[in-house]
Amino acid sequence: MTNILIFRTARAADLPAIRELVTTEFCHNEAPTKHLRNTKSGFAKLYDRFAAHLELETTIVAEEIQRLGGVDKQQKGKIVSCHVSIPLAANLDLDGITEQLPILRLLEEVSVPFGEVLKKRSIPESRVLHSLLGATRQEYHGKGLYQQVIGALTQEILKSSRWDMAVSECTSPTTRYIKKRKFGWTEENFIAYENFEQDGRKPFAGLDGGVALLWKDYRDMKGKV
Ligand SMILES: CC(C)(COP(=O)(O)OP(=O)(O)OC[C@H]1O[C@@H](n2cnc3c(N)ncnc32)[C@H](O)[C@@H]1OP(=O)(O)O)[C@@H](O)C(=O)NCCC(=O)NCCS
Repeated sequence: MTNILIFRTARAADLPAIRELVTTEFCHNEAPTKHLRNTKSGFAKLYDRFAAHLELETTIVAEEIQRLGGVDKQQKGKIVSCHVSIPLAANLDLDGITEQLPILRLLEEVSVPFGEVLKKRSIPESRVLHSLLGATRQEYHGKGLYQQVIGALTQEILKSSRWDMAVSECTSPTTRYIKKRKFGWTEENFIAYENFEQDGRKPFAGLDGGVALLWKDYRDMKGKV
């Protein structure tokens, strides 16, 4: 029996597995979600609002395929890492989301300078891909899977005529490191969790690290500039 890993764009049939992987990983291992003690069902409710706009062509999965052998050469696949994209211009419906309000406000605040970036580069929001979130199954952490997922994402963006740029709010030091150091994204803003205030309160008091806003302009790589 041999296992192989493939990196590919998502299919509609993958969506339940992606949802399960992301909600589990965020509740257990993503710093701000864990800090707020979000429930899996509460996080899934937020995820579903974003996932209503999920772009299959730029949502990437790492699938581990187990070859079971036998005459019919059966294969069993398991999604072990993923990255979810939506258009930045997506008309999100976040009504009734309460558990994660501090996170949503934090993401809004870190994104404030991005308007100027688009203005300076004359890029309309409709041509920006929102590199929304990613997750790797805990037992596969640190094996380089997410780096390869972002490599596959880069290839899809380069192939597509829809996107000039991608933007991301990185809440994990690992995704911040991968995008900045391995894929050359520009860091535009950073807010330490400790310092963030919402309605006079510090919802992330005592939490190390912070959220970084990063972007990448792909036009030169596509020969458009
Ligand atoms: C973040 C996450 C997706 C990373 O997935 P992964 O497959 O383990 O990541 P990789 O193995 O590809 O990346 C490892 C790289 O990150 C580096 N890294 C690990 N921890 C780091 C840290 N705290 N700070 C900076 N870099 C770090 C490693 O050194 C390695 O880089 P190297 O190859 O140059 O040594 C995974 O930890 C996860 O699912 N976390 C929970 C959900 C989450 O936080 N998602 C991201 C929200 S934006």
